[in-house]
Amino acid sequence: MVNAVIRVAREIVIAWLIRVFTSNDVIRYQALELASREIKDKKIKGSIAELGVYKGDFAKRINVHFPDKTLYLFDTFNGFDKRDVEIEKKFNKNAKENDFMNNNIELVLKKMKYPENCIIKKGWFPETAKNIEERFAFVSIDADLFEPVYQGLLYFYERLEEGGYIFVHDYNGKLYGAKEAVQKFSKEYNIPYVPLSDICGTVVFSK
Ligand SMILES: C[S@@+](CC[C@H](N)C(=O)[O-])C[C@H]1O[C@@H](n2cnc3c(N)ncnc32)[C@H](O)[C@@H]1O
Repeated sequence: MVNAVIRVAREIVIAWLIRVFTSNDVIRYQALELASREIKDKKIKGSIAELGVYKGDFAKRINVHFPDKTLYLFDTFNGFDKRDVEIEKKFNKNAKENDFMNNNIELVLKKMKYPENCIIKKGWFPETAKNIEERFAFVSIDADLFEPVYQGLLYFYERLEEGGYIFVHDYNGKLYGAKEAVQKFSKEYNIPYVPLSDICGTVVFSK
């Protein structure tokens, strides 16, 4: 009972923090708009994806900027997976299984201007990415934890069209291992990235 109350309270605080810290993130939103314009002007082919959708507040902006492109939405829609949380402990981070739980796909889709463009991939990434034959023009990786961010970079960079972009959120966040994942990927494959000065520190990979 006490554990359940603590879990619900933690969930409410997380949702509140996300709203407060990211709902007015002008730099993040303008960077997205600029990237989408580049992709449009240069007629970059490929679909769009977000890994780590939560309640869809960034995804709805992505959806608006790419009215003619398919948008894949990858999320457990039930919070962090215990396999990823286990790996996170190596980095002395305090992730909890099921942080970001209590999600609702219908509510996420209701926020979209072009819901018909959206393909929901519910479940644990990278399992949910199997059997997708796609190239991508723009990808947002916002899964917080080391393992899904690292797996996301491995998966999407290989499938990124030339001229496309990958935004990775939370590079500057201290709670989880996104930064370590970005650095490992960049070093291993010798692929540089550009950090932005938005609230949580997005980094941008391009091809
Ligand atoms: C910070 S929230 C996303 C916030 C959202 N992009 C926004 O700007 O409002 C992180 C999300 O990543 C999802 N996530 C983390 N690891 C995942 C994995 N391995 N597979 C699928 N979803 C995952 C969580 O369920 C959670 O909804």
